[in-house]
Amino acid sequence: MKLLEGKIAIITGAARGIGEAIALKLASQGANIAFSFLSSDEKARILEQKLAALGIKAKGYKSNAASFEECGELVNAVLKEYGTVDVCINNAGISKDSLLLRLTPEQWDEVMTTNLKSVFNMTKHVVRPMLKAKKGSIINMSSIIGIRGNAGQSSYAASKAGIIGFTKSVAHELGSRNIRCNAIAPGFIETDMTHYLQDEESAKSFLAKIPLGRFGSAEEIANTALFLASDMSSYITGQVISICGGLNI
Ligand code: NAI
Repeated sequence: MKLLEGKIAIITGAARGIGEAIALKLASQGANIAFSFLSSDEKARILEQKLAALGIKAKGYKSNAASFEECGELVNAVLKEYGTVDVCINNAGISKDSLLLRLTPEQWDEVMTTNLKSVFNMTKHVVRPMLKAKKGSIINMSSIIGIRGNAGQSSYAASKAGIIGFTKSVAHELGSRNIRCNAIAPGFIETDMTHYLQDEESAKSFLAKIPLGRFGSAEEIANTALFLASDMSSYITGQVISICGGLNI
């Protein structure tokens, strides 16, 4: 029996990177996947095909995680198509790195709305079916930067730290209803988001701080997402799991 046989998972921003890896990992363990994407229709169609090839039901929805209304429409569409939601992975995120002196209010708002409000938007809508089903697992993508901060990333760090406070509060509120809510705090993971950090000089200085001596892969994040989505983690809620090669020690 696969870990997520027949379960329904929604993943936001899954057309590439960590979201895509999570979609593939959960599908490989039997989950039916609904994922959202912002603009990359072609990548979304390709992912739908890759997922369907794993023998599960898969559908991509064009939906802006930063919009409360669009998240409501997404969850309603998924409920219509799949009947319920067992797992919600709030993965969509952006970074607009800039030193505080140059950071504009518009950049701040964009990062907070996309990274933090999106988590509220989706959680508000998915708890309805989860309350009805008396179970659910919500997984929010934070960051090691939300724990330790970083020069040039104040807006990103604030949004990711906000996710941690939100995650713990939801865990307090909904634990008695058997709805778990946890956060993952990745370190440096090789995706498009961190591509610019991987030039030789920056790479060397980052690697020197990572005890495991390498960047992480999207699949390594997906492995933990699978654990948190499944009953393997049935007594875990309100936690932040760092996956960072020891960068935080
Ligand atoms: P990525 O840039 O490759 O993927 C992010 C995805 O989110 C993209 O597909 C993008 O289109 C989507 N997205 C952005 N805004 C959206 C919106 N408003 N609505 C719907 N989708 C939207 O980045 P990556 O690395 O895969 O990141 C995934 C998550 O992991 C993000 O929340 C990121 O902050 C977090 N993270 C990544 C780390 C890394 O080292 N790559 C480290 C720590 C956290």
